[in-house]
Amino acid sequence: MNTKNCEKIVVEDQKYLSKVSRATYYPLAVKRAKGCIVEDEDGNEFIDLLSSAAVINTGHSHPKIVQAIKNQADQFIQYTSAYMYHKPLVELSKKLIEKTPGNYEKKIIYGLSGSDSSDGAIKLARAFTGRSKIISFIQSYHGSTYGALSMSAVSLGMRENIGPFLPEMYHFNYPTCYRCPYGKEKNSCELECLKQIEIAFEYYLPANEVAAIVIEPIAGDAGVIVPPKIFMTRLYELCKKNNILFVVDEIQTGFGRTGKWFGIEHFDMVPDIMILGKAIASGMPLSALVASSEIIASLETLSHAFTNAANPLSCVASSTTIDIIDEEKLVENSKIMGDYFLDRLDNLKKKHKIIGDIRGKGLTIGVDLITDENTKEKNTAAAAKICYRAWEKGLILTFFAKNVLRIQPPLTIDEALIDESVKILDETIEEYMNGDISDDVLKQSKGW
Ligand SMILES: Cc1ncc(COP(=O)(O)O)c(C=O)c1O
Repeated sequence: MNTKNCEKIVVEDQKYLSKVSRATYYPLAVKRAKGCIVEDEDGNEFIDLLSSAAVINTGHSHPKIVQAIKNQADQFIQYTSAYMYHKPLVELSKKLIEKTPGNYEKKIIYGLSGSDSSDGAIKLARAFTGRSKIISFIQSYHGSTYGALSMSAVSLGMRENIGPFLPEMYHFNYPTCYRCPYGKEKNSCELECLKQIEIAFEYYLPANEVAAIVIEPIAGDAGVIVPPKIFMTRLYELCKKNNILFVVDEIQTGFGRTGKWFGIEHFDMVPDIMILGKAIASGMPLSALVASSEIIASLETLSHAFTNAANPLSCVASSTTIDIIDEEKLVENSKIMGDYFLDRLDNLKKKHKIIGDIRGKGLTIGVDLITDENTKEKNTAAAAKICYRAWEKGLILTFFAKNVLRIQPPLTIDEALIDESVKILDETIEEYMNGDISDDVLKQSKGW
């Protein structure tokens, strides 16, 4: 594969840019992208199994989104909603309120990234309850601003040398059943993860000082961990019993990604606060907090305002995203294609011992690579090599949580592209097992 132009861009990139904002996999410089296909600066084409990190749910450069942005740019590009009003913002808000779970009077606060809205959720929960403590989960990721990172616990490196973090943040184990921190199996488990919170409430963490429990309905960056429904139900009940707000981070799971409009709908519950981002505007910068009018009213004027938030270009992109998801039945397609993908990957698992677990819902799927069936030790080298070779064969494939292949294609994907992706993955794993992928690739493909 010729990657001359891409390599040149990477060399310049390294000259001017800090390493802090990127995990490296391979030298892919994007030139254009359409639907599920990405083209690089050398004219190579790839099936996109990443969707710009679960952002491009509607497929790259959907013509209706491109048109909506162009039309809006002809009118005006931005006028800050911190001081004035605009129609695209009101129209979007009406749609978002209709789409999010909960049949009560809701309001919205906008931001530019998932991270700032995670911070906003902390502010809202503290202001509404008058309590300061926040509970979140080990291996969760809520963003990179100080508040969001204070709630996150997915990677030590992210938190090194930059403390202190926000006070009163408490982290508990997420129910990671494949590698249970309590050594239990799914069927014999007594919800130890939940018990630890109950024990904390009994001995050192007064429940009446806890403002919120913040959770991802499926823990994405942890390696696509789907919690048992009983855990979520009991956690929700614990919140209700203690007047603690139940806050869901839907930044990665929203907008059809998991085969429902929002990930929390798999658990039949209505959260008190929802944090939205990533796919909300098909790649334009936008995030949002959705909650009851009563909760939203607890924050004072300009206590969560950003000059460029709710930019009209992002608003029309978001409104059109919602329309496309409905018109093209992308929530349904996410479920159908997700089940198809899972089924195909399950066949690979039977064939390759290196695959320890396949899990997910809709088109968010993790392939957990291990060194040994008994120890379930994470196989980082395999993940790095397989992603690199898959890229050489025309697949945008990455890994996170040290060893989990991340499968999150646009929700427009079809069976033919899934078949092609699985074929490449199958061949690549075979080559890895035969020792045909050089250790040299580990210098580039580091992941995280
Ligand atoms: C679950 C979750 N929350 C929050 C964030 C942070 O969002 P952003 O990168 O848009 O600030 C991410 C991003 O990966 C995420 O996956």
